[in-house]
Amino acid sequence: MVDLTKAVLDPNAPQKFRPYEEMEGLRESQLEPGKGAGFLFYAYTDKDIRGGALSTKLLTTVLTDMTDELKLSHAFAYGRLPKIGDFEAGGRALDAVGVNAYIKDVMNGDRRDWGLEFHKRSGAKIICGLPNSVDDPESRNCGFLAIYDLRKLRKQKMI
Ligand SMILES: CC(C)(COP(=O)(O)OP(=O)(O)OC[C@H]1O[C@@H](n2cnc3c(N)ncnc32)[C@H](O)[C@@H]1OP(=O)(O)O)[C@@H](O)C(=O)NCCC(=O)NCCS
Repeated sequence: MVDLTKAVLDPNAPQKFRPYEEMEGLRESQLEPGKGAGFLFYAYTDKDIRGGALSTKLLTTVLTDMTDELKLSHAFAYGRLPKIGDFEAGGRALDAVGVNAYIKDVMNGDRRDWGLEFHKRSGAKIICGLPNSVDDPESRNCGFLAIYDLRKLRKQKMI
């Protein structure tokens, strides 16, 4: 996990990724069937209905569509870490080692973070933590990169 994370360690690196601004207004699929890989970057459920795992159903629908309609074998995801502030408050540095340790804790069930948990539940494999990578104060500008193996998920009947 650590190697890829190093790529985003420099605090003076160019402007952080701003997913909302960069994707806003983009309506057309950038994918041709059978070519490339999918990329998921944002799920949202209304505050009044959170906690019912609706995001998992949404994600399953999108992954199924990528498999059946777009004929893709893999999808990447950028994920948020909105509870990582608690980890930082416990005196842990949010460098590559710290963010990856936090991710392992959540994956093992030793900590809760709903930004990571719905990807975990949907069968994502976490590639690496991404400290200082995105303009997202709630996540302390940290996130993670994940990959979905769509063929494997299909075999496991998860999609
Ligand atoms: C991430 C999100 C889509 C998950 O919604 P969801 O599918 O309803 O959440 P889940 O059903 O997986 O919730 C699992 C747990 O996390 C809690 N939870 C979910 N979202 C939460 C939130 N925003 N704040 C606090 N707790 C939250 C739920 O209450 C639930 O707790 P429980 O297991 O103790 O009952 C939703 O929180 C959201 O829209 N957040 C804002 C946008 C965002 O950050 N998206 C993620 C970007 S990739």
